[in-house]
Amino acid sequence: MSTGPLAPRADFPLLAASPDLVYLDSAATTQKPAVVLEAIRRYYTEANANPHRGAYALAAAATAAYETARHRVARFLGVADPDTLLFTRGSTEAMNLIATAWGRAQVGPGDNLVVTRMEHHANFVPWQQLALATGAEFRIAELGPAGTIDLEHLASLIDARTKVVAFGHVSNALGTIHPVTEIVRIARERSAGGAPLGPGLPPGALLVCDGAQAVPHLRCAVDALGVDAYAFSGHKIGGPMGIGGLVMRRGILEAMPPYQFGGDMIEWVEDRTSTWNVLPHKFEAGTPNVEGAVGLAAACDYVERLGLDAIRAHEVALTAEAMAALGAIGGVTLFGTPDATTRSGVVSFAIEGVHPHDVATTLDVAGVCVRAGHHCAQPLMRVMGVPATVRASFWVYSTSDDVARLAQAVRETQARFA
Ligand code: ALA
Repeated sequence: MSTGPLAPRADFPLLAASPDLVYLDSAATTQKPAVVLEAIRRYYTEANANPHRGAYALAAAATAAYETARHRVARFLGVADPDTLLFTRGSTEAMNLIATAWGRAQVGPGDNLVVTRMEHHANFVPWQQLALATGAEFRIAELGPAGTIDLEHLASLIDARTKVVAFGHVSNALGTIHPVTEIVRIARERSAGGAPLGPGLPPGALLVCDGAQAVPHLRCAVDALGVDAYAFSGHKIGGPMGIGGLVMRRGILEAMPPYQFGGDMIEWVEDRTSTWNVLPHKFEAGTPNVEGAVGLAAACDYVERLGLDAIRAHEVALTAEAMAALGAIGGVTLFGTPDATTRSGVVSFAIEGVHPHDVATTLDVAGVCVRAGHHCAQPLMRVMGVPATVRASFWVYSTSDDVARLAQAVRETQARFA
C-alpha cells in the first residue's frame, strides 16, 4: 500500500520550490507551512509594537497577538491555565530554566537527580551540571530491551531524596514513545517519602518531561499526563525557530525564583530590592518573541486542521514501510523497537562498513536529507556501542515515494562503498 502526503507539498513553500527534494530530517526541524509564514508577516505588517508596554492601540494589538497565541498554544497542549505556559526559546531553555531557577534553590548534598540513558543532552546535561554544582548524586536509568527504558532500574534509583526525575516523552534518537503515565506512577510512588513540592502539591521528586519530539506527533494532553513540568519546541511542529515553552504547575512557578532579570518580569524596582511580575511574565524577561508565538499558534491551527490522529496514523504507516524497506537490505542494522506503533516517525539505522556521516553525505547527493551523528544523545550512543547513527524522520509531507528514494539511495551508497 502506498502512503501519499497527509498535507500537500504545496502548503510548504520550501518543498514546493524543490519538488525533487526528499526531506527526511523533520525530527531536527520541520519545514514551515505558508500559513505560519503568513501569520508572522501579518503580525509585522499589522500589529508590530513592543507588547505589555505601550499605552497606544498598536501596542495593545501586539500584546493581544502575543497573549492570544499563548492561549492558543495552551489549548492545543491541553493546558487549562494558560498563565502556566511560559514561552521560552525551546525545550533546551525550558530545561535550563528549571535546573537553574528551581534546582539551585531546592537541591543540595545528599539529594539525587535521576535521568534516563536515552535523554537528549538538553534533558541530561542541565541535571548533570546541577548535581555537580550542588553536591547531589546524578543517577542514570539504563536501557531495557529494544530501545526501551528499564523501568525496574528506573524505580530502583528513585527514593525519598530524589529531587528530580527527568525523562523524554519520545526519544529523538530512536523514536521510542515512553510510557509517561507509568513513569509518573513509579516516580510518585518511589519518591513519596520526600518533602511536598509546595502547598497543595504532591510530595517527592519534580517530574520533568521533555516533550520536544512528542508534541509534533501525538495528542499530548499535558495536564492529564501528571508531570510537574513539560517542555517543547515550536520549530519541530511547523513553527518558527527560537520559540517553545515550558508548562509547570502554578504552585511551583509561584514559589520558584526568577530565571532572568529585566523587562517584563519586573513588578517594582527599589534601589536595593525588586519584586516580580505575576505569571507568566515573571519568567519572561526582556522583549518577548511575539513573532515566534504568533507563528507557533498558527502552526497549532495547521496541525489541528490536519488532525493529530491522522498525523499519527500517517507516521506509523511510513515508519513501518521504512523499517521494512531498510530491514530488507543486507548489511543495514535498524536500531530501536521493531514495532512502528511504539515509536514516532523516526528510523535510526547504520550501514555496515560505512560511517554514518559518509552515508548522509552520499544520500544528500541523491537529494535525500537525513541526520547523521550522535543526535545530541552521546550517553545513549556509548551504550549502544556506536559512534553515531543515520536517522530518517517523517512528518506530514512525507510519503512512500520518499521512503523508496531513501531505500534506493541506501543501496547506491552500499554499491559505492563496496
Ligand atoms: N534535537 C534535534 C534532533 O534530534 C536537533 O535532531
